[in-house]
Amino acid sequence: MPLFLVEKPFTLYILTKLRDANTDQITFRKNMVRLGRILGYEICNNLDFRIIEVTTPLGAKAVGVDIYDIDNIVIINVLRAATPLVEGLLKAFPAARQGVIAASRKEIVGREVPKEMEIDIFYKKIPKIRKDIDNVIIADPMIATASTMLNVIAEINNFQPKNIYIASVIGSEYGVKRILDKYPDVNIFTVSIDPELNNLGYILPGLGDAGDRAFG
Ligand code: URA
Repeated sequence: MPLFLVEKPFTLYILTKLRDANTDQITFRKNMVRLGRILGYEICNNLDFRIIEVTTPLGAKAVGVDIYDIDNIVIINVLRAATPLVEGLLKAFPAARQGVIAASRKEIVGREVPKEMEIDIFYKKIPKIRKDIDNVIIADPMIATASTMLNVIAEINNFQPKNIYIASVIGSEYGVKRILDKYPDVNIFTVSIDPELNNLGYILPGLGDAGDRAFG
């Protein structure tokens, strides 16, 4: 199932703080970090594992789980809004290698809700991604038209990773559908699917501009 809606009371409690226009910058950023950590653990629960046996300090055998893919993680930070989310993801994946992609989207001011945005990837630094071995997590808190995300997935797909995961906080119905229509194998982890976009491409009800709210 490539869409994982992480709608538990605690994640919804954090999301509510993020949505609230009265939440200040520091509280906003801290809660983004918290969600990053939770999304990381949710992704962990979907990585490949094997059953192993270990010996406890009492010399007894215990059957356990080895999530061997936990060390085969590359996190891509879609600048700048994803930075606090990545800080949280790194708590779940301390050994992850990290890359950054910076994209600008051309603001189209019109009355129509945009179907896609003009995206310019103007900076990228991506570590080595091993074909069929590495699991890539693309972090972007807001999936609006998904134009940025589709460009980033296309970049990452060139490396043929084992799996692609998206860690996001809110996806629009339209944006999530666009991603899954084009890339049905991509695993989207998000806390909410919001119904609408406005004419500037912002998600409604959403939480505003995630980068501005986290960084001022
Ligand atoms: N990016 C944001 O930060 N917020 C939105 O609502 C859409 C894109």
